[in-house]
Amino acid sequence: MYLMKKRPRRTRKNQSIRNLVAETALPDASQLIYPVFIQEGRNYAQEIASMPGQFRMSVDTLLQRMATWKKLGINNYALFPNIDDKLKNAKSTEALNANGFLYQAIKKIKDRYPEVNIFADVALDPFNSDGHDGLVENGEIVNDKTIEVLSRMSVLSAQAGADFVCPSDMMDGRIGKIRKALEAEGLINTGIVAYSAKYASSFYGPFRDALDSAPRAGDKKTYQMDFRNSREAIKEIELDIQEGADIVMVKPALSYLDIISQAKRHFKYPIAAYNVSGEYAMVKAAGKNGWLDETKAMIEILTSIKRAGADIIFTYHAVDYAKLRDEQ
Ligand code: PBG
Repeated sequence: MYLMKKRPRRTRKNQSIRNLVAETALPDASQLIYPVFIQEGRNYAQEIASMPGQFRMSVDTLLQRMATWKKLGINNYALFPNIDDKLKNAKSTEALNANGFLYQAIKKIKDRYPEVNIFADVALDPFNSDGHDGLVENGEIVNDKTIEVLSRMSVLSAQAGADFVCPSDMMDGRIGKIRKALEAEGLINTGIVAYSAKYASSFYGPFRDALDSAPRAGDKKTYQMDFRNSREAIKEIELDIQEGADIVMVKPALSYLDIISQAKRHFKYPIAAYNVSGEYAMVKAAGKNGWLDETKAMIEILTSIKRAGADIIFTYHAVDYAKLRDEQ
């Protein structure tokens, strides 16, 4: 006979007990930001091969679908434009075209659904013929000229109606530069979500398919972080907060739950995590093959990101997850 004082299984005895002692509630759809891919055209939706269930859409199609998504409680959207190859060049000039596709799209969405929050990505890769987040000169991704362009891009997004601008480029000093530019234009209510601890990751592969934005030469390791580091993430987040970020992000999420958890402990700022394209693709691919239960995996993944400390989750699962919660 074992006389055990401690039997942790007692608090796992049945679902109601498990619910009583649960430390983390399942994320709510209101805590999710849904990233969507838009492109020029009408009545257009093309599924992205490496991201089943996700589409490149024309804005009219997006607006139609948003009506349904909003009913499910998804009110926050991150926008990523797929720019026509003909408009891409080394200087990323299309990023500064005030009448360009991206800014028109933001306007249309905010005109139709003023209550929806638009998180406008700020980086040059969709517009840049080199496929880098910054300007390339003689093989170098130049910092200071890039942040000049990014700050003008941020002003254009904000003027078009973006609620938050989201620099995803990892150049030095860009948050300060952007905050200053927004203030100078009187755009004092536009927030900044800083992609602060963004790692050079293989998990961005499907996203680069979606936008045809893979670097034409080299990789992104001189600006995105080295995945061997965690103290450096704290440094990056600290700088972005000092420079004026409202929300800071760790990206990707799943291989970086330790970073999310450290960020949560260190900073009194909302922490976002980006459950990226490759993380989504793995679940979809394994699910399709019957190798795991896609729905259960999705719930476990989103809850674990929240448990690690994320307040906000960018995720391609947003619609599927919100549907599921809606049915419950
Ligand atoms: C680029 C950007 C990337 C993602 C968001 N913004 C890709 C990259 O840095 O190469 C990745 C998102 C995802 O994989 O879901 N500015």
